[in-house]
Amino acid sequence: MTAPFRIAQLSDTHFLEDGAPAEGGEGAYDTDEAFDAVFEHIAANHELDMVVVTGDIADNGFADEYRKAADAFSRFDVPVNVCPGNHDHFGHYSARMGRPGVSTSRVIEIDTWAHVFVDSAAGTLLDQPSGTVIDPPEQARLHSNGVLGEREAAWIRETCDTITAEHIFIWLHHPPAAPLVLTEDAAYEAEWRTLLHHLPRVRGFGGGHTHVPDDYEIDGRPVAVAPSLKNNFSMDPQTWLPPGYRTYEFAPDGSWSSNTHLVDDERWPRRPFGSLLASLFRGEIGHDELRQIIERRNAERASG
Ligand SMILES: [Fe+2]
Repeated sequence: MTAPFRIAQLSDTHFLEDGAPAEGGEGAYDTDEAFDAVFEHIAANHELDMVVVTGDIADNGFADEYRKAADAFSRFDVPVNVCPGNHDHFGHYSARMGRPGVSTSRVIEIDTWAHVFVDSAAGTLLDQPSGTVIDPPEQARLHSNGVLGEREAAWIRETCDTITAEHIFIWLHHPPAAPLVLTEDAAYEAEWRTLLHHLPRVRGFGGGHTHVPDDYEIDGRPVAVAPSLKNNFSMDPQTWLPPGYRTYEFAPDGSWSSNTHLVDDERWPRRPFGSLLASLFRGEIGHDELRQIIERRNAERASG
């Protein structure tokens, strides 16, 4: 019998240029420190065959953020494969993620499994007359929800139809139908439900995006949501969580299992979060409103 294929998943690494403030500010972890802690925890505890990173690799989509991310990922002694998130600028991501051992492959077939890497914000990209795509202006991708769009949805369907592997696993940034009011999106969920109707060999999903590690199902397929390295939360009880990652084992018979690992440290205490963040997660206020309230509070504090 063949041994299971072992993968570690990182997501939402949100690398920044040295000394730059995090997008959205307030409470963000030092993502260089978080990456080092996660890297060391993985090295000390797991034998792996591959590492996967599911998007929001850079915090602002800047070129130097990808240089730093690519250097960091190349420290793993197994191959690393990545897909982009909404914080990723597709042009910079495509040009700068590559390193020996770090790639942006869309399909990786191993024994009875095919690992398919989706751009779950591809619907924000703009088609050019030349047939290429470019990023939308004014960082419109940065705050977008999941949107596959016709091109990516067609690619997923055609790719899954032509793959010969018996079992397919989808890696992507936005987990479809995540049970969190903040990220609820009926249109994106509908894109996946339509697709899944035609994709009987898809055995599950590995995603990120919500910064709330979770496990649930869509259309009978399990969805694993990885922790973030920028800031990370539990909904029950309502606390901050330390940064972390997931591990997976893919068996030749099509079964798979996954565990979440959090790297507890005094830098990232599991403290309760207040009413403001709770309102954000319940969808009562948006990110912009949250930022305005925090700025107003800080200004009031500063003026005594
Ligand atoms: Fe993120």
